[in-house]
Amino acid sequence: MPRPPRRCKRPVAPRLRKPAPPRPHRARVIPQNLFARRTAPGFRSAVPMRHCIYPGTFDPITYGHIDVLSRAARLFDRVTVAVAESAGKGPLFTSEQRVAMIVPGVAHLPNVTVTTFSGLLVEFCMAQQADAIIRGLRALSDFEFEFNMALMNRHLESRLETLFVMPNEQFSYTSSTLVKQVAKFGGDVAHFVPPNVAAALKSAFAPNRT
Ligand code: COA
Repeated sequence: MPRPPRRCKRPVAPRLRKPAPPRPHRARVIPQNLFARRTAPGFRSAVPMRHCIYPGTFDPITYGHIDVLSRAARLFDRVTVAVAESAGKGPLFTSEQRVAMIVPGVAHLPNVTVTTFSGLLVEFCMAQQADAIIRGLRALSDFEFEFNMALMNRHLESRLETLFVMPNEQFSYTSSTLVKQVAKFGGDVAHFVPPNVAAALKSAFAPNRT
């Protein structure tokens, strides 16, 4: 005889899962010094590092140049200060002296390095695998020279871009030549150049210098 179907006395409720306890909130940690992380040994990034060259004669470096450099160091992963031999400009300091004067002034910028170059700027940039040249525009009077130079460099090497940044307006009238003139006649240049540069200028223009 077929068995009669079993009847449930009461409907079985589906087994409910216990809700998961809320996860403790974990703040996203953004590294303080992204550059230090990216340059740590063994670090591999899918994003290529951006490298720019800041060229100039820097005879000597001024706070205006350092202002441009600090802005570039915020925009790029790596900045190379390229000190031109610039024999034609008859610099007061040798290229080695100019590099040595720049180094302490940029010590607070960990992604900045300083080196010398001679010959064509674009060739140096390509050898350094740089993405861009950075230049400062202090005033409108800088524009024409910079415009021509940027176009010539682009004609020579189309893969290189020139970017311009504006230094703080307090440096709009500073130039290495003016600083040298003031120092030559015993004026105070502390407002325009770091202390090591002021000391180097003082000894370069010392009356008993041979
Ligand atoms: N704050 C203060 N002063 C600044 C400044 C700033 N932010 N930016 C520029 N200056 C001053 C410099 O001190 C300099 O003063 P000086 O003429 O009294 O010495 C003046 O402005 C011009 O400096 P800069 O614009 O850096 O030019 P430079 O002559 O020092 O450098 C080179 C120019 C080296 C970049 C360029 O000649 C070059 O690329 N040479 C390599 C050869 C080459 O490739 N030529 C083809 C280029 S198209």
